[in-house]
Amino acid sequence: MDSLQQSVSARLAAMSLLGLLILTSFSVVHGHGDVTPQAVNTEGLDPIGEEFVEENPYRLAGGKQYELAKAVGASGYNSNCARCHGLEAISGGIAPDLRLLEDGVFGDEWYMERVRKGYSQNGAYKMPPFQDLLSQEAMWAIRSYIEAQPKDI
Ligand code: HEC
Repeated sequence: MDSLQQSVSARLAAMSLLGLLILTSFSVVHGHGDVTPQAVNTEGLDPIGEEFVEENPYRLAGGKQYELAKAVGASGYNSNCARCHGLEAISGGIAPDLRLLEDGVFGDEWYMERVRKGYSQNGAYKMPPFQDLLSQEAMWAIRSYIEAQPKDI
């Protein structure tokens, strides 16, 4: 190989490496149904542990825990859910209106199922699974916020 050929093939290698890097960074950004998860600060909320519970523990606790959960949930909701489900849980039509979720434990179960596992159609996520992205505390805080929204639909 002469030196011209060598430098050409070195350049080609560098270019394809660059292309690969660009592709990889795109797929990282656009993985999980096109969502960049936002951490939710759940400081002050009672820890729930590893086991998933069936009913909103903060509603059950009531009082200050429930109030704090709604406030934490408001910011968690706005940064992770509102862009599909609408501000204040009022749907703009892309995704279901979450004010229609059932109250109580039945609504809790369905909520958790969807939020943990997301929703995919023909192999593409329409809603990303959040179980590895948000803590259980954050998920129940968001449920607390959603169920507290006025239901004048
Ligand atoms: C990329 C868009 C997107 C994001 C982000 C998103 N969702 Fe969804 N969500 C959807 C779509 C689409 C559906 C409808 C799936 C179906 O048909 O059940 C859905 C369904 C749901 C349902 C079931 C509603 C029902 O009436 O059956 C719940 C609960 C839910 N989402 C909660 C959340 C929460 C909480 C967050 C944030 C942590 C969130 N979603 C983030 C798109 C999204």
